[in-house]
Order: sequence, then C-alpha cells, then structure tokens
Amino acid sequence: MITKLTIDKIMEATDIVEVIGEFVQLKKRGANYVGLSPFVNEKTPSFTVSPSKGIFKDFSSGKGGSAITFLMELEKFTYPEALKWLAKKYGIEIEETEESKENKEADSRRESLMVVSSYAAKFFQEAMWETEEGTNIGLSYFKERGFTPEIIKKFELGYSPDQWEAFTSAAIKAGYQPEFLEESGLSVKRDNGSMYDRYRGRVMFPIHSFTGRVIAFGGRTLKNDKNVPKYVNSPESEIYHKSNVLYGLYFAKKAIRDLDNCYLVEGYADVLSVFQAGIENVVASSGTSLTVEQIRLIGRLTKNITILYDGDAAGIKASLRGLDLILEEGLNVKVVLFPDGHDPDSYVRQVGSSAFKQYIDQNKKDFIIYKTSILLKDAGNDPIRKAEVIREVVESIAKIPDSIKASVFIKECSYQMQIEERVLLSELNKMRLSKAKKNGQQAERIEAYPEEPPFEEQAQLTKEVNNGLYQEREVVRLLLLYGSRMIDWDGIANTYIGPFVIAELSDVTFEDPTCKLFTDIYRQQVENGVLPDDQFFIHHENKAIVDIAVDMLTTKYTLSENWYEMHNIFVPDEQMNMRATVLGAIFHLKKQKVGEILEDLRKELQNSTNETDQEILMTRYMQLKKVEKHISDYLGSVILK
Ligand code: CTP
Ligand code: MN
Repeated sequence: MITKLTIDKIMEATDIVEVIGEFVQLKKRGANYVGLSPFVNEKTPSFTVSPSKGIFKDFSSGKGGSAITFLMELEKFTYPEALKWLAKKYGIEIEETEESKENKEADSRRESLMVVSSYAAKFFQEAMWETEEGTNIGLSYFKERGFTPEIIKKFELGYSPDQWEAFTSAAIKAGYQPEFLEESGLSVKRDNGSMYDRYRGRVMFPIHSFTGRVIAFGGRTLKNDKNVPKYVNSPESEIYHKSNVLYGLYFAKKAIRDLDNCYLVEGYADVLSVFQAGIENVVASSGTSLTVEQIRLIGRLTKNITILYDGDAAGIKASLRGLDLILEEGLNVKVVLFPDGHDPDSYVRQVGSSAFKQYIDQNKKDFIIYKTSILLKDAGNDPIRKAEVIREVVESIAKIPDSIKASVFIKECSYQMQIEERVLLSELNKMRLSKAKKNGQQAERIEAYPEEPPFEEQAQLTKEVNNGLYQEREVVRLLLLYGSRMIDWDGIANTYIGPFVIAELSDVTFEDPTCKLFTDIYRQQVENGVLPDDQFFIHHENKAIVDIAVDMLTTKYTLSENWYEMHNIFVPDEQMNMRATVLGAIFHLKKQKVGEILEDLRKELQNSTNETDQEILMTRYMQLKKVEKHISDYLGSVILK
C-alpha cells in the first residue's frame, strides 16, 4: 500500500490543469479552463476544469472528479496506478507500507519474470536486426510479408537464432536465473539439468500486457513442414494467463477508446497488417475462442466489438455460440466476413487500406441478424429445423441484459424469420424467467407495448422519492461547501458547521447509500479530530464519494463565482444567511424523516385489527405528530428570522 504521506505529497504537487492538459487542449475562461470532452465526441466544449477546486467536470458525459479520477477514467488506471503515474510526473518517491512476506515474494517473482521477458524481447530484436542470420532469414521474412520497419519495431518483433542455446547461454551470462528462464518458458530443461532454447529458428511476436510490458511470446516457424507446429507459444506462468490477454491491446487501447469500437481478429499477422493499414483499434484472441475476461478487457474501453472473420464457413458456425458470451456482457457485436479464402491480413494487403475500410463499413452486420440468416439458410424448408433456429436465436437475444435492446432485436428477427413478434416474445420471456430463477432473481418481463403507470401516479411517485433524496443530498452539499466554516450565531459559537450538522443529525438514518456513506465518513473524520474539506472527498478512493462531491461542487452556482453577475440573476444568497441555510437543511431533513415514519404508522394503523396494538400505534402517532409540528414551527421561525 502507498503510504498516506506519499498520497498527500502527490496531491499537493498535482496541478490538475497541467495533468489534464496532457490529454485535452484547454483554454482559459474566467477562473476555469474549458476544452472538448475526451470521453464523447463533441463540437462545443463542455469539459470544465477548475484549478482552484482541483476538479474537472464533463457536462457531456457526466464524468467528474480529481486529476486521479481523470486518469482512472481516461487511462483506465486503478487508483494506485493513477497515483504512481502522478508520482512519476512530479518526481515524488513512492513509499509503500510493508507488504506481507508472501505478497512481497510473489511480487518479486513476477517482477523477475517480466524482467527476463523484456531481456528476451531485446535479445530477439538484436538477433534479427544486427546479425546476418537474423536479417537474411527473420527480417526478410517479415519484409516479404509486407510489414514495414516501423510496424516491426513498434511491435518489437524479433528472431530467435536457429541454434540450441543462443538465447539461454546469453541470458545466463547476463546474470538471469535459470529458474525464471524455465518458468517463463523461454528455456526448456533437459533431464540432465542443462537447458536449451524453446524457440529456434522462429520469428518472434512478443505479447504485451495492458500496460505495455512483455509477458509472453509467440514464435512462428519459417518452415513449410506439416509436422512442425506453426506457432510455439509461451506456457502459462505467473505473469501470463492466456485467457486474460489480447494480442495488440496495449497498442490499440487509445484508438479503441477514441473510436469507440474494437476490431477483433484471429492472429498476430492480422493485427499487424490491419494496424499497419491505419486501423489501429485492432486486437487478436490468438487463435483461441474468446474468454469472458478478454471481453471484459475490451468492455473497459468500448461497448462495441466488430469481429473480422476469414471466410471459412465451418469456423464461423463453430464460433456462433461463443459470441453469446459477448452479448451477455452487454456489448454490441457486429461481424464482417471476408471473401472466401481471405483473412483480414491477406485481404488488406490485396486491396489496400481505404478499400479495406470501405469493405468493412459496407459488409458489417449485426451479429444476431447475421446468425439468424446463416441458420435460416441452413434449415431450408424443414419446419423442425426452423423451430430450432428460432429457439437458438431467441436464446442469443435472451442473453442481452438491456431489455429495450432485446425487444428491438425481437422485432427485427420476427420480420426476418416471418414469425409473429408475440411468439418470439413469449419464448424470450420464458427463457429470461428460467434464467432469473436459476440465479435467484426477479425477471423483468418484456412487453411488446410496455404499460406505463398513469401520469399523475408517476409524478406523485417521483416527487416522493426525490424529496427525501433531495434533503439528504442538501445536507451533503452543505457539509462539503461550508463544513469547515466557523459558527457564530446567537447561542451557538466556537464550533464548526460540519461537526454541528453531524451532531444534530445523529438520530437520523440516511437512506441513500452514497449520502449515508458520505456522512458516515464525515462523522468518522470528525471523531478523529479532523475536519475533512472538499479536497478530502474529491480525492477519496471510493468513486461514489468522488462523484457526489464533484456533483455538489459543480452546480452552475458553485463552479463559476461570477455566474450570477454574468447572467444578471438575483438568487437569494445562502451564504448571506448561513444560519437559516444550515438549520433549514437539518430540520427539513428531520421533518422528512418524521413524515416517513408517520406515513408508515398510518398504514400500520389501517391494517391493524388488534385493539391494544392500535392504541400503542395511536399514542406513538400523536407524539410524532407533535414533533412534526414543533419542527414546522421551528422551521418557520428560523427561515423568517
Ligand atoms: N495459433 C497458435 N498455434 C498454432 C496455430 C495458430 O497459437 N499452431 C494462433 C496464433 O496466435 C495465430 C492465430 O492462432 O496468430 C491464428 O492462426 P493463423 O491464422 O494460422 O495464424 P496467422 O497469425 O494468420 O499466421 P500466418 O498468416 O503467418 O499464417
Ligand atoms: Mn494468416
């Protein structure tokens, strides 16, 4: 764990305008800076940075927070990763608290494996660029396949000499431990204990982690011998879990996010060719079927996947079922099929970059529609097989978590299959129900025409729900904005607004989870003798806390100090009458809570048939009614004073 002291130092050093400025072009406007949102495509800037508060708010996507949040959102860093990035930028040394012995050992083992892999990547590169064998065999192979030196260097491709011990002996000589050479799979141990190279006379494709470190290799043979495996890949190790890795993701992640789409291909060569053609949002599953972990990796960057298949029909049908996994994760799937015999690599080389892009745009089909058409074609006129098709297609649709999206597909497929929508819907609901039962959840029924509650009823509902929430959020807002102000009112002095509010509300239970968490944290800090300020919450580790803090600090009223003047609007200034604002918030919330209890009691009274019960309930009701009246009177007097 990074120490509190280090975190404080990092926060102190961090200049949010400088940090965000590395990713977004910012222009000064008044006290703030504005720019185009990096999260959505927009033409007019709605992305605002307030240096004085140390926060940003993106009014297009709703995202907001500190420099740390920004890095987490944009770069998909974890909290400690974001801290480390900032520490590096500002030259702050990171102190970490002692980890357990086991953790430390595992960490250092992983680190050793990474170091040895990175050494190997360099070795293979040098062996390719700087030896005669390497240029004649490895480099000329890549060049023949049409890869440019830039792409070869970018992806750190290399060559492993056709000798038994070239790499292993160099690595041992350079001081790397045999244990890690073996575990990384770079070397293989003989029975007599000596070691030899796993990859001999192969061109080497390093596989990078999400953050760009080499964690494994694929080595392709240059022989045309059917008995030699085409690829030899690294075994699973502490740093390489095949199912968690996508080839090319490190190089593609920025483009995937920017373009909000990820192309998925099968092989290393496809990634390289497509990337080289200027389509950089491309990754490969490396010959295996896609795993949930891989889908989630992509899902962190975009919700749209386009699968580029080679035109081999058998392979396609085999993978149709696997794709349901992607639907289940809530991602949108499109597929593109290449003409027979072509894979993305060969096709892009044949037609060139712009024709390739055009082909994709004109031939991409939604996965479900595509699946339906393939299966239908297969079934022909056989009614039994057609029934199976319906079942299979609806099964896919049932995997889509978003029910609105699912109902759109039902409509689409009912047209495609010439089956009444109603029939498909009932099948769909059956499947969702049984799935929910299996998971112990309630199923949401999808109706063709959802019935809405009458308008008045709806309005009433939202009003009640919102009112309670509003009062709770108002307390959070005041704590954030004014918690560390001194109170100097008649009868109450020498205390701060924050602790005062917290003490006054000790009998109130917050219902909204975030408001509850916020006030709990506030109370805890006060009990520890600390008065937390807005910066404390903006930099908090919990995202919900950061979100609510930023929300409260970025209303039109607070983000721009001269907003009133700018718009020539008169707003009664809460700061002018702090006493009324604070006491008003406390007692409105109390009144709200008492009102809720009264409502419950009223219902209980109506349902109760036992006379003693009724009497007890009635007494309690009358008492609370009095409390409510007191609060109302008090509120009246506070506000009017
Ligand atoms: N693959 C593998 N082992 C094999 C064959 C394939 O690991 N024996 C994996 C590799 O990740 C490969 C992917 O499956 O990239 C797709 O296979 P293929 O299309 O045969 O490989 P390409 O990368 O297209 O290689 P090339 O075009 O050079 O034949
Ligand atoms: Mn290929």
